Amino acid sequence: MRDYIFPGDFRWGAATASYQIEGAARKGGKGESIWDRFTHIPGRIQDDTTGDVACDHYHRYREDVRLMREMGIQNYRFSISWPRIFPDASGRANEEGLRFYSDLVDALLENGIRPMVTLYHWDMPQWLQNLGGWLNRKSADYFVQYCEAVFSGLGDRVLSWITLNEPWVCAFNGYYAGDFAPGIRDFSSALQAAYNMLRAHGMAVRTYRKLHGNGEIGITLNLCPREPATDNAADQEAALRNDGYANRWFLDPLFKGCYPEDMMRYYQDMGLTLPDMEPMDMELIREPVDFLGVNYYYIEFTRAGGDNWPLYFTTTAGDYSVTEYGWPIVERGLTELLVRLDREYKHPKIYVTENGASFLDVVNVKGEVLDDCRIDYLERHIMACWDAVRQGVNLKGYYVWTLIDDFEWNTGFRNKFGLIYLDRRTGGRIVKKSGYWYRKIMEQNGIVNQD
Ligand code: FCB
Repeated sequence: MRDYIFPGDFRWGAATASYQIEGAARKGGKGESIWDRFTHIPGRIQDDTTGDVACDHYHRYREDVRLMREMGIQNYRFSISWPRIFPDASGRANEEGLRFYSDLVDALLENGIRPMVTLYHWDMPQWLQNLGGWLNRKSADYFVQYCEAVFSGLGDRVLSWITLNEPWVCAFNGYYAGDFAPGIRDFSSALQAAYNMLRAHGMAVRTYRKLHGNGEIGITLNLCPREPATDNAADQEAALRNDGYANRWFLDPLFKGCYPEDMMRYYQDMGLTLPDMEPMDMELIREPVDFLGVNYYYIEFTRAGGDNWPLYFTTTAGDYSVTEYGWPIVERGLTELLVRLDREYKHPKIYVTENGASFLDVVNVKGEVLDDCRIDYLERHIMACWDAVRQGVNLKGYYVWTLIDDFEWNTGFRNKFGLIYLDRRTGGRIVKKSGYWYRKIMEQNGIVNQD
């Protein structure tokens, strides 16, 4: 077996998000977020949990940073809770909230860990949702005000920034499927929300350049190949539509400055209302980024038909084995995706900002978590990244989702993705076998096979 060694400047890390780990929902002057509101509506979260306490990272961050150091984590991606910084509509930033993140950044740097900060990982302030959330054009201005406060508080020490995490999920789960906060169910609203998010992104990039400019800033998209389930023409057409819906609807405006024409036509034919566009918006949206963040988990095999207006397709896992979430394990999808992004979108610098898997982890009598399935998943996907680098993709880093078992949105705590096991009764942390395995990968800058 061969070795899979990465270029010297490759970044290895792990990722988290504020609402999923922090807890302290009402501490430190934090205001209510749309996820605080949503999780408290009975029936919305599959196991009836909330992020009120989560991993209590807000109080235990020093211990978590220490653990990260022990695990050899060199890069840590986390997000900032917007309502911790702007708890209400007054326009006054909450110093205590900023201090928490500033202390966290200092602790990371003292331990030799490079921070990468996501500005929006879905926890919009509820006061802004009351003004229409992402449906309100002005949300982008509020976002910029928030970003300015964070840039000036942390910009001297944080040199990697992500404006938005997965605007597709936020728009289409939040405003169309309604199974994520804020729980709206209207396709045209999802299109509008996605549009304003992209405007907010462009404005934040410009603001960053104006204020600092000595670090890098980009956006993270959830991308996955949408292959046809069979090679019949109807499935192929459906797969192209699925790709337009989920991938190109974001990639094209960001990198080409326009929406994909086939999708514009399709949505119009379906009688949907297209986003309210003003002149110069697209210029803003296509503002060049320093990198593209890619969150990759699986492939969707697309089959034409079904009654799901307006898309009319269904998806399956194909013949692949699946994670506990039901997501098919298809590592070649990651290589193919990265190569496609490279060829179609002019060789961008890319970080895989999330990749990982949920499995049923148990603590054995010796107090260990032997999560070999996760190791297998991660190893396959790291090899897939290596293959992309070999093919010339400008891939510069890989972040495991996630550092520690966390609150996984509408499935609650059921799905465990962490390199660290969380005992929810005691708050205790146990580094899983995958955590120790990953330490070796990071140390060796890739996979070294003994034989
Ligand atoms: C992604 C989210 C992340 C996490 C993983 C499993 O869509 O960005 O917060 O929940 O899925």
